[in-house]
Amino acid sequence: MRAVDIIAKKRDGLALTQAEIDFFVQGYARDEIPDYQASAWAMAVFLRGMNEIETTALTLAMAHSGTILDLSSVAPLVLDKHSSGGVGDKTTLVVAPLVASLGLPVGKMSGRGLGFSGGTLDKLESIPGFRANLSTAEFVTQLKNHGIVVSGQTHDLAPADGKLYSLRDVTGTVACLPLIASSIMSKKIAAGAQVIVLDVKVGRGAFMKTESEAVALAELMVKIGHGVGRRVAAVISDMNQPLGNAVGNSLEVIEAIETLKGRGPKDFIEHCLAVASQLLLQAGTTKTENDARAKSSSALDDGCALTKFGEWIAGQGGNRRVVDDYTILPRAKIVEEISAPRDGFIAGINAEEVGLTIVDLGGGRAKKEDAIDPAVGAVFKRKIGDQVKRGEAIFSLHANDRAKFESAKMRLLAAFEIGDTRINPPPLIHRIIK
Ligand code: URA
Repeated sequence: MRAVDIIAKKRDGLALTQAEIDFFVQGYARDEIPDYQASAWAMAVFLRGMNEIETTALTLAMAHSGTILDLSSVAPLVLDKHSSGGVGDKTTLVVAPLVASLGLPVGKMSGRGLGFSGGTLDKLESIPGFRANLSTAEFVTQLKNHGIVVSGQTHDLAPADGKLYSLRDVTGTVACLPLIASSIMSKKIAAGAQVIVLDVKVGRGAFMKTESEAVALAELMVKIGHGVGRRVAAVISDMNQPLGNAVGNSLEVIEAIETLKGRGPKDFIEHCLAVASQLLLQAGTTKTENDARAKSSSALDDGCALTKFGEWIAGQGGNRRVVDDYTILPRAKIVEEISAPRDGFIAGINAEEVGLTIVDLGGGRAKKEDAIDPAVGAVFKRKIGDQVKRGEAIFSLHANDRAKFESAKMRLLAAFEIGDTRINPPPLIHRIIK
């Protein structure tokens, strides 16, 4: 078999066999197939798609490109949640410690920024000392000792996805259903959690722009998960505007900690409670949505989730002082408030443009090897449905470079739509798929 023939077959719109997919994935994972051929292949998949059989084969090939963790000796039931990618999505930073504080172990393999979407690992790495690249042995030890671990892909867990993920980030091949489904599910299968809740985003700041695309992605991932014996549910959640108020790595860490202190933005709290509730229901510790929600809320209200957050961060080498002292986080040199150009009501905030602007400010990567600037970002003070007056601050912008600041300011102002009549904010949760 030759990689070039497999690329050409997909380019011509034909379905690949399991043997061809295995050959390509294993070859890429072992560095026998170079990045330029993998890029061409990813673009062919992006343009031509994959059927369900191919996507399942791709998922399993990537999961089996490394070790499949068996966590049954660590805990009878390990939980995981995963987002399909959004803007301002710091849900893991709240939901993981929340659920872990209720005695349910959370073991999660996470990603970095992808396209216009932020990455949990990049956010966590703004905390001084935090180690996101644990070895598999360290992953298991942290889970055993603290009941919570969030780490990047090790060389032995789904390494093919690790490589392909960073390649897709910089080759315009992110927003593709089979590539997203296989990327997420290969990691989930490899990391060994038995209970998985998928947070599938829909809207302008998501890779799936329509509800039908998001539902198709969710249903496929749930099916793949069930096929390998995992308990899986998906929450289809709105991403037409940034989630919460903060976008940008250290700014999102601050917002997550504020949320754990009970002072988070309303939409973000609601979203976290919805995802946490599904985890409790899937784990079988609560029987009804109401109970699951009450339990999740109380973990936020009584401070247990915050305490668990500090324990988690310290366990992975991070400075626990971040909980009380945000000044230890990187802070941008230029921080200015930007005001509304006219009176009216916020009718839209183009979340994709917000994400792209933060990437260009330095908060994400344009090339695989780029370092990110954890300090930059924006904090929104008005969201869809809010009234604004001309001259009133609608967001603050954090940058380290004046020229980039000016360009980001213009782009973010243009991302706001201000109308004459009040519109209702979009629903936070569109659907739950079990
Ligand atoms: N999250 C992932 O892990 N992979 C994707 O492709 C998109 C979101």
